[in-house]
Amino acid sequence: MTTFAIHTYGCQMNVRESEAAAKALIDAGLAQAPDEEAADVVIVNTCSVRGKAEDKALGKLGLLCATKRTRPGRVVGVMGCMAQRLGEGLFKRLPALDFAIGTRCAERVAPAVEAALQGRPTLALRGLHERPDAPSGHVAGGFSAFVTILLGCNRRCAYCIVPDVRGDEWSRPARDVLAEVRALAAQGVREVTLLGQSIMNYGLRTPAFDADDPPSPGGYALPFPRLLEAVAAIPGIARIRFTSGHPAGVTDELVRLFREEPKLCRHLHLPVQSGSDAVLARMRRGYTREGYLAAVARLREAVPDLALTTDVIVGFPGETEADFQATRTLMEAARFDNAFIFKYSPRPGTLSATWEDDVPDAEKARRNQILLGDQDVRGAALNQALVGTTQRVLAEGPSLRNKARWSGRTSGNKIVVFAPPPGLRPGDLLDLAITRAAPQTLYAD
Ligand code: 5AD
Ligand code: SF4
Repeated sequence: MTTFAIHTYGCQMNVRESEAAAKALIDAGLAQAPDEEAADVVIVNTCSVRGKAEDKALGKLGLLCATKRTRPGRVVGVMGCMAQRLGEGLFKRLPALDFAIGTRCAERVAPAVEAALQGRPTLALRGLHERPDAPSGHVAGGFSAFVTILLGCNRRCAYCIVPDVRGDEWSRPARDVLAEVRALAAQGVREVTLLGQSIMNYGLRTPAFDADDPPSPGGYALPFPRLLEAVAAIPGIARIRFTSGHPAGVTDELVRLFREEPKLCRHLHLPVQSGSDAVLARMRRGYTREGYLAAVARLREAVPDLALTTDVIVGFPGETEADFQATRTLMEAARFDNAFIFKYSPRPGTLSATWEDDVPDAEKARRNQILLGDQDVRGAALNQALVGTTQRVLAEGPSLRNKARWSGRTSGNKIVVFAPPPGLRPGDLLDLAITRAAPQTLYAD
């Protein structure tokens, strides 16, 4: 039997699209390889968000293409954001490549594999203004699943390549989303994470697609909270998460759901990017420091145990020491549970790439280290404060480090390591008393 492996870089959107591709290949009669080395077909799902992410994927593809010299029948393909961005150019760089499939036509992956096995290459790209395919197939067996509800992005932050690789924003019809979640629940899935680049825009119509999907008269003013409620009403679903947020979407309705809907996990990923008004304005983020902190204050007041995580970019063009210090103080004021910190990387075609990348790399690295150090201290203190509390944990399975113990996650998305009671299955919920905390892990001994 022909076997395949998919190597995934980038965000959860890519993880989801890799899963949908895997399901399509299984349906086409292929089998998941035990490891990449053994696979007859290897697909690299790529990310373009920073230059380094592309360099890694290109290096990986180069090595894989080289293996074809000794394994002539092997198929090597590429999908995802870098495939969309570089398209035809990838075949010039990597003449042995079998296929490149863009972000908006991922359903072409399985046919491209079949063609490649018969010796025919494929290049498939769909226009950024055309309606995209939504990934819908799932590989059976998990207790937790990603469900994409919003594709593309219309925000056009100055640094971000996403609108150029994932195209115009498009909301999937709610009936499709709900049917997918119902089917997952019927297969035993207990937790769904809804995905979208700017997910709180869900259901706010995109003019580019109105011609073939007209807005309903009298449509809801706040479609995203309504969708969350509809998902929460599906029997069998115990937990709902979503990502990523934007302060503009922190409506009173959403805050109310965080407080009142028990299935909605008490965690919000709310990328801030910078704490300086001057930088936020140049980034075109659409909020100020004060506006961001006001959204956080409303959330904290209504839901004191909400876990907040964020993304930050250091070394954006023109970022001064004072701008950087403003980011530091904002992170302290917001009391983030976790933060992903990135060194600015100019991306071709974005607005900020036309500006001088004037913060030297060593300075970006220094700022990055300082924020990471701050976050370690803050995260450890927030975890320490959970010692002595009881947390409801969704069991995931044996812990990676010590197979005699299991790990699971709290509603706030923190990892808990514990001794499993007899008969525990992945996806079960249990209440655990937290006895000990490490910076990244809680323990229930
Ligand atoms: N350089 C560095 N980081 C970036 N991000 C997006 N674009 C860039 C860029 N050009 C970061 C943002 C975003 C996360 C997914 O990646 O913080 O939230
Ligand atoms: Fe990029 Fe901004 Fe869209 Fe996020 S919201 S994907 S940062 S353009």
